[in-house]
Amino acid sequence: MLPESLIAALRGAQHVCVLTGAGVSAESGIPTFREAQTGLWENYDPMDLATPEAFLRDPELVWRWYRWRRDLVAEAEPNPGHHALAELEGLVPELTLVTQNVDGLHARAGSSDVIEFHGNLFATRCFVEGCIVEVADDDGVPTCPGCGSPVRPGVVWFGEAIPASALDQSFAAAKDCDLFLSVGTSSLVYPAAGLAELAKRHGAVVAEINPNPTGLAANFDHAIAGKAGEVLPDLVAGLGGD
Ligand code: APR
Repeated sequence: MLPESLIAALRGAQHVCVLTGAGVSAESGIPTFREAQTGLWENYDPMDLATPEAFLRDPELVWRWYRWRRDLVAEAEPNPGHHALAELEGLVPELTLVTQNVDGLHARAGSSDVIEFHGNLFATRCFVEGCIVEVADDDGVPTCPGCGSPVRPGVVWFGEAIPASALDQSFAAAKDCDLFLSVGTSSLVYPAAGLAELAKRHGAVVAEINPNPTGLAANFDHAIAGKAGEVLPDLVAGLGGD
């Protein structure tokens, strides 16, 4: 049962800002970052693969990992958590959805204007000039038809800057919102993890939804220990969405 005060905050909110992390896609069968990598990749640490240095050192290995993730996502379906957020969009005056996920599942569930803080697995561009390059799903590292440089996944790697527009829009929404929901993220990676605290400092009610309370939960108004695919539909139902 969700706290009545959280439901009331949602009912009264003019602007809801939601930050999602890998936990929102867990119930779609996509492993989170800080669970042990599964199967073929269990001996690799994402931190050692998701960097420009790793790509330059061994583009073939990094591409194989990303193709594995693209295939995993292509077979996955949005879950009730994704669908609840898509439904919420039509039930509140303004909703800003910021995701750290690169799987595109929010858009596939019907959410519009998703701010992809860390880019998207399926946006591929050449390493040198950044021109968009469509890649076939065959093996090997694709090369840019224009400059011949290797093609990289359109995601933000460790050590790289968040796209300026995503950063600006997300920070503006965190400052402006009345209710901030932090869903399925370990709140370990900044600047994304700073959004909830920013919202709190600007007077928003802040709730975390995560089966495992994070280190920031103590600063929030609510820490709902539950799965996104169960709690988010309940939250929307509480709004009278169902
Ligand atoms: N519902 C909600 N939360 C869940 C669920 C679920 N069903 N299952 C797991 N979780 C929670 C875990 O408890 C954990 O706190 O999701 C969180 C996932 O944390 P991470 O694996 O650290 O993923 P995330 O927070 O998105 O990582 C942030 O770090 O590795 C980088 O760029 C990468 O975007 C990623 C960023």
